Amino acid sequence: MKDIINYIDSNKESYIEELKEYLKIPSISTSSANKKDMQTCAKFVSKKLKDAGMTNIKIIPTEGHPLVYGEWMKAPGKPTVLVYGHYDVQPVDPIELWDSDPFDPVVKNGQIWARGANDNKGQNLVHIKSVEAYMKSLGKLPLNVKFLIEGEEEIGSPNLEVFLKKNKKLLKCDAVLISDTSLYAKGIPTINYGLRGLAYLEVELTGPNKDLHSGSFGGSVANPINELAKLISKLHDKNGKVTVPNFYKDVLPFTKKEKDNIIALKFSDAKYARELGVKELQGEKGYNTLQRLWGRPTLDCNGIYGGFTEEGAKTVLPSKATAKISMRLVPNQDPKKVGREFTKYVKSLVPKSIKIKVTEMHGGSPVVIPLDAPAIVAASKATSKAFGKKTVYTREGGSIPIVVEFVNQLKAPAVLMGLGLDSDNIHSPNEHFSLKSFELGIKSSAYFLEEFANVKGKK
Ligand code: BES
Ligand code: MN
Repeated sequence: MKDIINYIDSNKESYIEELKEYLKIPSISTSSANKKDMQTCAKFVSKKLKDAGMTNIKIIPTEGHPLVYGEWMKAPGKPTVLVYGHYDVQPVDPIELWDSDPFDPVVKNGQIWARGANDNKGQNLVHIKSVEAYMKSLGKLPLNVKFLIEGEEEIGSPNLEVFLKKNKKLLKCDAVLISDTSLYAKGIPTINYGLRGLAYLEVELTGPNKDLHSGSFGGSVANPINELAKLISKLHDKNGKVTVPNFYKDVLPFTKKEKDNIIALKFSDAKYARELGVKELQGEKGYNTLQRLWGRPTLDCNGIYGGFTEEGAKTVLPSKATAKISMRLVPNQDPKKVGREFTKYVKSLVPKSIKIKVTEMHGGSPVVIPLDAPAIVAASKATSKAFGKKTVYTREGGSIPIVVEFVNQLKAPAVLMGLGLDSDNIHSPNEHFSLKSFELGIKSSAYFLEEFANVKGKK
């Protein structure tokens, strides 16, 4: 193991250069203008897998963006780890708020700044480099490894889900290793054992058949923006509970152990509020902040538009108003079921004078992973060794829709070895990733391969 760690230490600088090359590719999966960049990025990843000594490398076309696969299967009798990550990134808007070009990475204050630095290029390159360190220094791995890096995570992994169902044999493994989440705090090794799910819907209200002069017509017909605002205000009650019928019906409560774990983590509300620039926190009554984030479902309006939003003032009574609404879900809520209840409920809230259209957008199921899985135990030891501290267990407020599919279809636990920080500005201007976390991530991954190779009770 010493050789591997030394190898990683002596190649740190070149890893940063490689990450920069990766980050220069504007692989924005939602944007049709970047379709070619997606191909370029898939090729880049396949080249990295090849350089790392992987075999059977494939760029697999899908109806959307390609998947990249590679493997090293020369450890018969040893467990197999499937490493999952995504090479697609979020759009960069609002571009004017970036301090540097999102696709021209810069290193500043021990961080690398670019779109995708944390989510997810920095975090998936970690595992490619750890495997490469073994191959370059020992010529072999202590177990079998498969890589699956996709290009559609940020749009809900529509095509990977199909691929997974048809390729269970190719993807067969004993654990899925994923770094696409966060550390509990800087320098604290963390294993995430849960992700929230998601139901995302768009609500469009239509009033009069065209925009009207707000003087000539105002006061005589319903204004869809006014009605939308009323509707949104009815979606929570005074205790911060979501009012959609049956919303909490399937929610699994916290276990005693989980509640104790949260207390032991000593989360500071005051520090959190300060960092977010708010005077106080707000949420569902009866729960603390980490409980609200990790194990309670929520409803949020993500965007709202309609009428006149340009510079200056224009007197207009708009014909339409739209809101994009997401609900973060927890075990055992079902995104489809929640979506149906939501649709029925909002339809019941609008007056006769307003037409309503509800469109379901993407979604995903929540997941929790049992902490006693051998892969989790191995990952906990590995991260602890790399960071030199005791590993903590957290759940995440965010979602990775494909994880529950891996767990159910492949019957393997997911190891969520989060390396980012919630303050890294993912999906936001000035995304960055700590170079220390990048390095310790590569070492954590290397230790994990060794720890998991020796796990008994493999399938
Ligand atoms: N890496 C994130 C998931 C995440 C978010 C982990 C926050 C830790 C903290 C992932 O790439 C992501 O953004 N997921 C989306 C899923 C959606 C687009 C279906 C999310 O959570 O919004
Ligand atoms: Mn993301």
